[in-house]
Formats: sequence, structure tokens, C-alpha cells
Amino acid sequence: MPLSLLRIHNLRNLQDVELEPSADINVLWGGNGAGKTAILESIFMLGRGRSFRGTETGPLVAEGQEGLEIFGRIEREGRAVETIGIRKKRKCAAQIRLNQENIKKLSILAKAVPLQILIPRSHEILERGSSYRRRLIDWGVFHVEPEFMHLSNRYHQALKQRNAALRGSPKTAFAWDRVIAESGEEMETKRSRYIEKLVPVFREEVSRLISGKEMLVKYKKGWPGGEAYMENLIRRRDDDIRRGFTGSGPHRSDIEIEMTGQKVEKTASRGEQKLVIAALYLAQARVVRREKGIRPVFLIDDLPAELDKEKRELFLNELQGLDTQVFLTGIEKDCFSVLGEKRLFHVEQGRVYRET
Ligand SMILES: Nc1ncnc2c1ncn2[C@@H]1O[C@H](COP(=O)(O)OP(=O)(O)O)[C@@H](O)[C@H]1O
Ligand SMILES: [Mg+2]
Repeated sequence: MPLSLLRIHNLRNLQDVELEPSADINVLWGGNGAGKTAILESIFMLGRGRSFRGTETGPLVAEGQEGLEIFGRIEREGRAVETIGIRKKRKCAAQIRLNQENIKKLSILAKAVPLQILIPRSHEILERGSSYRRRLIDWGVFHVEPEFMHLSNRYHQALKQRNAALRGSPKTAFAWDRVIAESGEEMETKRSRYIEKLVPVFREEVSRLISGKEMLVKYKKGWPGGEAYMENLIRRRDDDIRRGFTGSGPHRSDIEIEMTGQKVEKTASRGEQKLVIAALYLAQARVVRREKGIRPVFLIDDLPAELDKEKRELFLNELQGLDTQVFLTGIEKDCFSVLGEKRLFHVEQGRVYRET
């Protein structure tokens, strides 16, 4: 899937940047405020149509400019080159074109440019709301189980109607139960099937990064085991009316990671938490690759610099073994010396200079 050309115009401090990344490992190094994260943001925009820093894309437009443009060229084995173009004016929605055609659904983009991002705060999803963990897992389910997106849309639309009715005219709310139960059961089947594939790969991955600690992943379905979702919806009707929302279902499921019998977020050091999350992302990349031949583009912002030398080298080795396109950022290029083959770019005041 690699990105073979990236052009950025007027995004944050990047006025006119063009780079030809390698299909393997790319290192962007340079001082604070040089524009390294902004480059990752532009790649992220190509895959998700938004930034990973905040929900607003307006602030991405360079100060004093009308709008930004990003262009990417993607090479795929055995297929024609694909192009993605994004134009975004300060106050308007982004215009996104895939192979010269306007696209409206971001899921089309997500399929065309599968990508993953690890930032210094990524480990916070261990202790934030369950929606963050579901979103992370659903990235993999979406790529491995093609029907998942459609199911999830159907489920969430019906759920919204049911919740509105629970607050307005409760008697009509239960007309939605059948469609909710059917799509919800299927969603959970797909999620569980994916998690069964993911867990062994994750445990192997994490054991290479943190040795000698027993890791466990627990998937908690959005309603009690042993009960059909329809039964559960019926049993909870009074509760749901009282609360004014649907209290069970795939929108409530979660995963929990334990290290030597304790929740990771409670006992593991911050560095260990970062490695656990990194292992989860790496494992997901391995699973989508094995199941669907998808090689996601990996964006990794500043992370290696936060690990000690030994852990950093272990992590970089894992990345190298992933055989996928990676963009890494850091302040010092020495941090990356353990990497064999790599393309180095020096980023300085919004300009990018290729070094190798
Ligand atoms: N809308 C904008 N217009 C112009 N410059 C911006 C805008 N938003 C952020 N910047 C500046 O862009 C620079 C690049 O930031 P960033 O990519 O985070 O740097 P790095 O990751 O290399 O430390 C920063 O100096 C920041 O102040
Ligand atoms: Mg940065």
C-alpha cells in the first residue's frame, strides 16, 4: 500500500513540501517546531480525512492562508497507482478526491489508505473511556471483516432511534429491538472472531517487548454471557426507560489488559504501558496483513525517544520486522541508528531535506 509521493501545501508551518518516502522505514528528524508532526498529520489526513490532534481541521491551515492541499500517490502490488487529493479551506469541509473522484464517505478512504498512528499519549486509552479501546479494536475488525462497517452503521442508526424514543415515547422504542439485536449479535460475533485471532499474536508481540510478565486480554461483551442480546434487551426494558438510553450492547463492550494478574493501567510503569499499547498496534498490523494481505502505513510520533535504549531497540527491531511502510519522528537521528535500511529526512523550519 505504500505512499510513494507526498505533497503538502499550506498545512501548519509546511508551505510547500514534497517527499518521496521509501516503502519501508522513513525517519523524520529535526528540532522542536520543525514540522515533523505536521507531516504525520498530513499523511493521517490522507487516510482518515481529519487530524489526530483535535477534531477541528481548521487550525491545520497555515496562518494567513486561505486553505491547504495535500496530495498522495499510492502504489499497490499488481494494481494501478492510486491518487488522493485533499483540499480544505479554513471554514469549509474538506474536499477529498480518490483517483480524481470526489468521495463523501470516509470509510472509503480508510480502506484505500489503512493506517495506524502511535503518539506519546496513545497509552492513555488504557484508562480513558471504553469507546477509545473499542475504536482501536474496530479498526482491525473493519479491515478483516468487510461487513462490519455496514452492520455497525445499521446498529448505531437504530440505537439512536431507540434512545430518542426511550426519552420521548417509550412504547415505540421497542420496535427497534429486533434490528438492534440482530445487528448487535453479528457485530459481537465479528469482534470476538477478530479478537480470537488478535490475542495470541499480541501475547507473542508483547513478550518480545516486555519479557517475563504474564499478559492476559479480556474481552467484555456488551451484555452478559449466556444470554441472547434480544433476551437481554427485553429483560432490561424498564431499566432503559428509567435511564433514557440503551444500557447494553456492542456500544458498551470493552477490552481489558492484565499484566501478572493486575490491570495494566493500575500497575505497569508508564514505559511498560507504552510498550503494551505499541504491541497491540503491532499485533493488529500483523493480523490484518496475515488475514487480508493489508500492510498498514504506520505513523509513530516521538515514541522511540521516550523509551530507554534497550526498549527502543527492541521496538525498532519489531517495526523493521513488520515489513510495512513506517514514518518515525524524533529530535535526534542517533535514536534510530539501530535501524538498518532507512530513509532519513531532516525537517527544519517547515522544509524537508532528504539525507539518504
Ligand atoms: N496553522 C498554523 N499556521 C502556521 N504555523 C503553525 C500552525 N499550526 C501550528 N504551527 C506551527 O507549526 C510548527 C510545526 O509544529 P509541529 O509539526 O508540531 O513540529 P514538530 O513536530 O517538528 O515539533 C510549530 O512551530 C507550530 O507553532
Ligand atoms: Mg512533534
